[in-house]
Amino acid sequence: MSPRHKYLIRKSFALLEEQGSVPALVFYRRLFEIDPSLRPLFKNDIEALAEKLIEMLGSLISQLERTAVLEAELQLMGQRHATYGVLPQHYDTVGRALIHMLAETLHGEFTPEVREAWTSLYLIIAETMQLGANQVLTVGREGSDHVRRERPA
Ligand code: HEM
Repeated sequence: MSPRHKYLIRKSFALLEEQGSVPALVFYRRLFEIDPSLRPLFKNDIEALAEKLIEMLGSLISQLERTAVLEAELQLMGQRHATYGVLPQHYDTVGRALIHMLAETLHGEFTPEVREAWTSLYLIIAETMQLGANQVLTVGREGSDHVRRERPA
């Protein structure tokens, strides 16, 4: 990501934070409108999850310069998300809900350049989370091969 994109992300995220949990609630409303079949994956209270979502975004954004830490954190997040039942195709839906939420809560501040910055950040997040999720699957497969090899014929 370019320094300009990082600057725009930080600036727009500060505006988002000023609005408390409203942006995250807008996000979830839009997510379940786009794909109602995702609703059952969310078992915990949406208001609590909304708070966690904003907190997590803040934490990721504060690490934009520490790419190794960010990458490790995103891969772990991807692993956790795989255990929640999140599939590769869900990442695109979440990206669309995120962009909608930004447009709705930033109004005039959501310029084409800000949209571009968030789109490129989300691409990095989604790709790195899926790398982590794939590692879970690979470990699972290796584990079961191992079990099969050990089993008597
Ligand atoms: C920008 C990317 C994302 C961020 C920052 C994010 C953030 C979070 C956070 C902070 C949690 C709380 C538990 C934890 O930390 O593991 C969570 C849980 C969850 N997320 Fe995400 N997430 C992202 C992408 C996604 C995607 C693509 C999906 C797909 C539908 C998804 C579905 C879920 C589900 C199902 C849970 C568990 C809810 C529950 O505990 O009831 N998330 N997410």
